[in-house]
Amino acid sequence: MANDYKSSFPIFNKYPGLVYLDNAATTQKPRSVIERMTDFYTEENANIHRGVYELSNRATDTYEEVRSQVATFIQAPNPETIGFTKGTTESINTVAHGFLAPRLTKGDNIVTTIMEHHANFLPWQQLAKSQQAELRVARIDREGNLDLEQWSSLINERTKMVAVTHISNTLGTINPIKTLVDRAHEKGAPVLIDAAQSVAHYPLDVETLGCDFLVFSGHKMFGPFGTGILYVHPKWIKAMHPHNLGGGMIRHVGVEESSFAAYPFNLEAGTPNVAGVAGLGEAIAFVTSLDRKKVVDHIHDLTHYATARLKDIEGIELIGSPKEQSGIVSFEVSDIHPHDVASRLNRDQIAVRAGMHCTQPLLEGLGLSATTRASFSIYNDRQDIDNLAESLVELHSFWHD
Ligand code: ALA
Repeated sequence: MANDYKSSFPIFNKYPGLVYLDNAATTQKPRSVIERMTDFYTEENANIHRGVYELSNRATDTYEEVRSQVATFIQAPNPETIGFTKGTTESINTVAHGFLAPRLTKGDNIVTTIMEHHANFLPWQQLAKSQQAELRVARIDREGNLDLEQWSSLINERTKMVAVTHISNTLGTINPIKTLVDRAHEKGAPVLIDAAQSVAHYPLDVETLGCDFLVFSGHKMFGPFGTGILYVHPKWIKAMHPHNLGGGMIRHVGVEESSFAAYPFNLEAGTPNVAGVAGLGEAIAFVTSLDRKKVVDHIHDLTHYATARLKDIEGIELIGSPKEQSGIVSFEVSDIHPHDVASRLNRDQIAVRAGMHCTQPLLEGLGLSATTRASFSIYNDRQDIDNLAESLVELHSFWHD
């Protein structure tokens, strides 16, 4: 499977020896996405929602067609539930400031988890502080599983938001999001799902999930940088208040008073990344052309193979071993700093990430300051993991001889 897909990604023609294992940071881009963006700039470039001439109308159509495509992709009821952002981070900040800030009062609480990326932690932490609300942080066990009972016990009638990741970007833990949404709703709390690490591999269905908000980035699902999605459940559309003001989001602007368009347009002030959105549409076409079940099986196979191979190497310690783990494996090599590990792997053309992965509270809770992380995508295969394992064996014996 992997080799079939590799040929769709020009970067592997340029660097045939590249072992790219940093897919949690960003995926490589298929030729079709790159060409779509070039075509947009070559043949369709104009600003949207403003012109009456043909090029502008075509660009507007492209942009709005991708909105419909995204809605279909995640089974959203209509395109008006889909907002375009710069990425997951902006989507979460938009919910924090455009939805939650006006309704959060002293004594309320926001529930999140210790495994969140800073993007799904800081906006809630800072908002809670500024409005004298409480940030409640659910814990995990040593293996990296969310403690469901403790998480549940944090939610009460004062919970104004539950924010949780689908898949941990550091440990690969897959959270049982349908159960989490149902349990939070039993207590009347809205739920935001951070799907940044799942969207490339797992079919998402917001209607079945019933979540209130779902966010992801284009660049982690084979699409361009600077594109992101914010899904808002229809029941909250009217509760989305603009917080970024400017052109393209207004109904009427007067010297004294102004009124604004409805969501999603009220949150898309300024000229958007139209070429990026065109590329995102192509990325969605690419993902939907794949056999989704095969993709999931492939990612799980790579994850199991990697954990089995790395576990057997002297001096390697895997960080966490969640019950459900997808596509991401963090580890330590004894007495060697993760940055040195990643630099040494780079000499063998193996690209991994080293550091805290924007999850400092998680790492501090585990008593760590950094890990080395390998993360997989469709174009990886077992040979990539064998290469990683062999380089780690060499590194460990060189360092300790
Ligand atoms: N959020 C990205 C990562 O985990 C950048 O690497």
